[in-house]
Amino acid sequence: MKFPKEKDIIEGIIKREEKRQEESLNLIASENHIPAYIRAASGSVLMHKYAEGYPGKRYYPGTMHYDHIEKKATERALKLFNLSKKQWHVNAQPYSGAVANMELYLAFLKQGDTILSMALKSGGHLSHGSSVSHTGKLFHIEHYGVTEKYDIDYAELKKKAVRYKPKLIVSGASAFPKKIDFKKIGAIAKSIGALHLADISHYAGLISAGVYLSPFGYADMVMTTTHKSLFGPRGALLYVKKEFAQTLDTSVFPGMQGGPHMHTIAGIAMGLEFARENKEYYRQVIKNAKALAFALKKKGHRIIGGGTDSHLVLIDVTKKGIDGSQAERKLETCGIYANRNAVQGDASVQKPSAIRLGTYATSYRGMKEKEMKRIAECIDQALGKGNFYANIQKRVKELTREFPVPEN
Ligand SMILES: Cc1ncc(COP(=O)(O)O)c(C=O)c1O
Repeated sequence: MKFPKEKDIIEGIIKREEKRQEESLNLIASENHIPAYIRAASGSVLMHKYAEGYPGKRYYPGTMHYDHIEKKATERALKLFNLSKKQWHVNAQPYSGAVANMELYLAFLKQGDTILSMALKSGGHLSHGSSVSHTGKLFHIEHYGVTEKYDIDYAELKKKAVRYKPKLIVSGASAFPKKIDFKKIGAIAKSIGALHLADISHYAGLISAGVYLSPFGYADMVMTTTHKSLFGPRGALLYVKKEFAQTLDTSVFPGMQGGPHMHTIAGIAMGLEFARENKEYYRQVIKNAKALAFALKKKGHRIIGGGTDSHLVLIDVTKKGIDGSQAERKLETCGIYANRNAVQGDASVQKPSAIRLGTYATSYRGMKEKEMKRIAECIDQALGKGNFYANIQKRVKELTREFPVPEN
């Protein structure tokens, strides 16, 4: 075996990326930092092994440790939300959130069946049936949106449910800051005999800590990614009511996937335990988002929906004479990362009027309300007229030095 004498160039790039993360403010609502011991598990020798199948029923030998890991992951996934294993079943194998959603659709729907979900521009996700996603091509999709006050338009949802009789109603979103009334959506789904999938990828950690409404009890199936708020590597968890367990599992494997990424599942198991032990963090995440929204509002920014009930804040940047893409670039120049976002009313997703901010990563660094005020000042200056970039860069560096990414 010939090992390289010099370091691979990729290692250098990783070091530079580590530095970028350390020295910048990450306000991307779907991202977070993951503790080093969990990252190490995900990069461990577990990645060498094929373990097709499920615990106790594998198609490869040598999987005794893998059964133990996967069982721990699913047990912890139930425990995080205080779910009984008599009523709920979890599959921890999906490679990602978009794949997990497709696995659910293919398990419980036929091609051409109708799905009713939140429109992309109102905050929904691509994998909820957007026309550019395979999910939008294989199924007939109807969408609901938000009201002028930026609450979910439950009246529209109900009207469309009665009219189109979808097989599945999807709740949950990627860019929706306020409360989602899962109970109401569950009741609408029940009234027309539809299944209800809650995609809680953005809110899972908050829900586990009891600081955001829970869909459990009102949804037949729940999907969450593991890397946004659950301190795991990139992956997903699929929860279904017990009676759907077999159909789901065969859709994941062998229906869609091959060998499960056991190194990822190990990281997911560890992230779930970390999440369960850090409930106070989630409380702070919401306090921080509210403080950020408040401080930006005071500076004259229009907060879409008026505020937030979650980790996420949407700002309409058109008042500053720019669009979301320009805002994203201005912030990036200063070492502040937040992504452009189309919102309801925008003519095109290519010309979004908003940026989406989230507080998972900054809260992980220990930042609190006071720091959110400082961040709001930086954002305000960056989005305004004039070139204050050097000054903002300096303030970002100061903040990130005061709050280094905690390591273990
Ligand atoms: C609500 C929601 N569902 C699904 C996904 C897809 O997850 P992944 O990127 O892991 O495929 C995302 C990702 O941002 C999301 O926000």
